[in-house]
Amino acid sequence: MTLPTGSRSPALFQTLSLVADPIAFFDRNSAKYGDTFTARVLGPASPPVVFLGNPEAIQAVFTTLADAFEFGKVTNVFRPLVGNESLIMNEGPRHLRQRQLLMPALHREQLHSQGHLIVDLTKKQTIDWKASDAIAVRQEMSEISLQVILQVVFGLVPGERYERLKQLLSKLLEAITSELYSLQFFFSPLQQNLGDWSPWGQFLQQMAQIDSLIYAEIADRRSHSLDASRTDILSVLMMARDDMGESIGDRELRDQLMTLLLLGHETTGSALTWAFYWLHQFPECLAKLRQELDELGENPDPIALSQSPYLTAVCKEALRIYPIALISQPRKVKRTIELEGYTYQPGTILIPCVYLAHRRAETYENPAEFNPDRFLDRKFSASEFLPFGGGSRSCIGMALSMFEMKLVLATVLTNREFVSNLDRAIRPARRGITFVPPDRFRLTVVGDRSSHIKYPETTTIK
Ligand code: HEM
Repeated sequence: MTLPTGSRSPALFQTLSLVADPIAFFDRNSAKYGDTFTARVLGPASPPVVFLGNPEAIQAVFTTLADAFEFGKVTNVFRPLVGNESLIMNEGPRHLRQRQLLMPALHREQLHSQGHLIVDLTKKQTIDWKASDAIAVRQEMSEISLQVILQVVFGLVPGERYERLKQLLSKLLEAITSELYSLQFFFSPLQQNLGDWSPWGQFLQQMAQIDSLIYAEIADRRSHSLDASRTDILSVLMMARDDMGESIGDRELRDQLMTLLLLGHETTGSALTWAFYWLHQFPECLAKLRQELDELGENPDPIALSQSPYLTAVCKEALRIYPIALISQPRKVKRTIELEGYTYQPGTILIPCVYLAHRRAETYENPAEFNPDRFLDRKFSASEFLPFGGGSRSCIGMALSMFEMKLVLATVLTNREFVSNLDRAIRPARRGITFVPPDRFRLTVVGDRSSHIKYPETTTIK
């Protein structure tokens, strides 16, 4: 058989259905055609696009067949934000070199030294939450994850430059999630600088202000000889050398920082929002988690905390049931290949689909049910559980976001008790490139468990 079966509706109709509601699109098609199906979703003249939910097929695409594909230019929309030197703009040997330089800085052991900082800034952000406050969870989690990026990744110490950059970045990141504003990234003819009041003119002005602050930080670091004891990611990157002994130049440092910010901020904030949402829909899961956390005693060590089995299972289950990124990067077939009984001709697009893999009944019993215990009972393979994608372009922020999720969740839950304002039947809402609980989601503070906690007066970074 050449292609998996799929809808015969007109390509334009399929494209619009996917854009309008991707989750409903995947649910409908997988119910009809199974975990792997063909669609035409790239406009009226779409080539066949095959969504893969089958673990064997996904694994082959990530590994044994990897050289049969090329990546499309889907990341091009981010170019004005992240720049040409960004990891996500490069391919082949240059992409590989950049990953090799970036990945050690984001390695789990490297991040462990930042645990106290994440816990401290979470406590500071939440210290004023008092009884009856209705907490806008997504906004609060977004603020915490922005602070993590600025302090753990950029290595900024709270102060004037920090506040200014935080303010500018929050404004920019909020703007790019608005559908109208983000249109200009998708349609390059809209990218016209018609003065300070034109949308593109404003964007360029904002970027120039942000860039000058980032370059000032880099210049400051360079002017003091690099401190080898600093463990923030910018410092580690500035000290990194590739195989040829070359270090990373200022332009590339700036582009990589913007990349980490863009891909690491909203994603982790959204994943945390889901975890809070699910735990407050299932009080028995929340009680089990609290018990595990309480057993660790007051102010537990962040590394011990991050190794707690049920806390880890809760975070994984939140990432499984509604993955933040529904798909891994699309691959275009370069040469005819055979895969799981199908033949794919050059030009066909294959998309490992995280959502389909995570909702497969053969892999996950009752896949629509929130059940963290499934991660205690069984280990799932990298092609069954893939919230961070896979293959040569898999997420390099996985260790940071898992560590951050666990520390933030545990810190908030050991200090406060909440009730949710939502019932179980919600549909995820689109926000930029992620899907989150709707913005009306609130947790109302109903208890303070923190009277014994000593909050830090200042947060510093080593
Ligand atoms: C819960 C949080 C996160 C989720 C669910 C997530 C998910 C993903 C996914 C699905 C991809 C694409 C993988 C593929 O195409 O197969 C990706 C790529 C990427 N992510 Fe994440 N991510 C998260 C957090 C972060 C963080 C915290 C950072 C950095 C600070 C980060 C940096 C990146 C980068 C740089 C890439 C591109 C890698 C490349 O092109 O080589 N992500 N992420």
